[in-house]
Amino acid sequence: MTMEDTITGGAAPHSPTQAEYWSGPAGLRWVTYQERLDRAFEPFARAVLDAAALTPGERVLDVGCGCGSTTLQAAALVGAGGRVTGIDLSVPMLERAAERARDRGMDLARFELINADAGRHRFATAFDVVLSRFGVMFFDHPAAALNHLGAAALRPDGRLAFICWRRLEENPWMMVPLTAVHQAFGLPAPELAAPPSGPGPFAFSHRGRVERLLRAAGFADVDVRPFDAVVTLSTGGLDQAVELSAHIGPAGRLLAEAAPEARVAGRQAVAAALGKHARAACGEGSDEGAVELPGATWIVTAGWPGRSRAAG
Ligand SMILES: C[S@@+](CC[C@H](N)C(=O)[O-])C[C@H]1O[C@@H](n2cnc3c(N)ncnc32)[C@H](O)[C@@H]1O
Repeated sequence: MTMEDTITGGAAPHSPTQAEYWSGPAGLRWVTYQERLDRAFEPFARAVLDAAALTPGERVLDVGCGCGSTTLQAAALVGAGGRVTGIDLSVPMLERAAERARDRGMDLARFELINADAGRHRFATAFDVVLSRFGVMFFDHPAAALNHLGAAALRPDGRLAFICWRRLEENPWMMVPLTAVHQAFGLPAPELAAPPSGPGPFAFSHRGRVERLLRAAGFADVDVRPFDAVVTLSTGGLDQAVELSAHIGPAGRLLAEAAPEARVAGRQAVAAALGKHARAACGEGSDEGAVELPGATWIVTAGWPGRSRAAG
């Protein structure tokens, strides 16, 4: 049996499409941990909404809206005279977003959810703003998809604001658990520094690539600036932090694909690695309190100078 067999349980390698991936177990994990993820990513939601500078009455598109956190916050910011649309590939995550909208008594005339590929969908509305929290890094053809968002979604002089992760090594909240799982599985250290060209959380991690893609897509006034904040993996002790890290992000993905025994070993390694940070955060011997690690992102804004929308 090879190391790969041990990790994957011998299953044939399968490369799901993004739609399959996000509507499958990964999407269900995001639904399960929605509240904790919203707490973990709260500073990043605030940062991208600040960058979007929404004003009452605006029409907003939230790309890769997932469980609807920023979509609902945007709806509150644009008020009764505005309109917000969330678009996502994931059926279960959209179902959670719809449930949250219903719970809040959202007016469906101004709050809409679409299950489609944002890089291809024929939008019926011209939006003032396209925004995204961690939802634009998964396009197979990013320049074409970004061009589509400008040409087919934004009105002339509309604006784009999104937040995306910087490099893995700048994000200890992902790097620490992933390194632990790699060590437990006998894998080489996670790949560092190389600019990823394929879709994934680090597809936009290099500033130069983001700037080039946006300019190639037709955007102007491209601004890419760093935004760092603490990612709160837990406010209730180490176990919660391990649980979140074992289900979300690159470590979670690796563990999900592992055979059961390997998963147990990987999870123990994550606990040992995060435990070092929990002691620092919580005080010696404490099994309560916050587990917080640094996160690093780019806040990206750009304008769409196009004169008219693409057909549809
Ligand atoms: C990392 S999650 C972020 C979800 C949400 N924005 C948040 O911050 O909680 C990425 C989301 O992008 C969605 N996504 C990926 N590619 C997409 C595409 N081409 N069109 C629409 N949504 C997409 C996924 O389904 C997933 O919900």
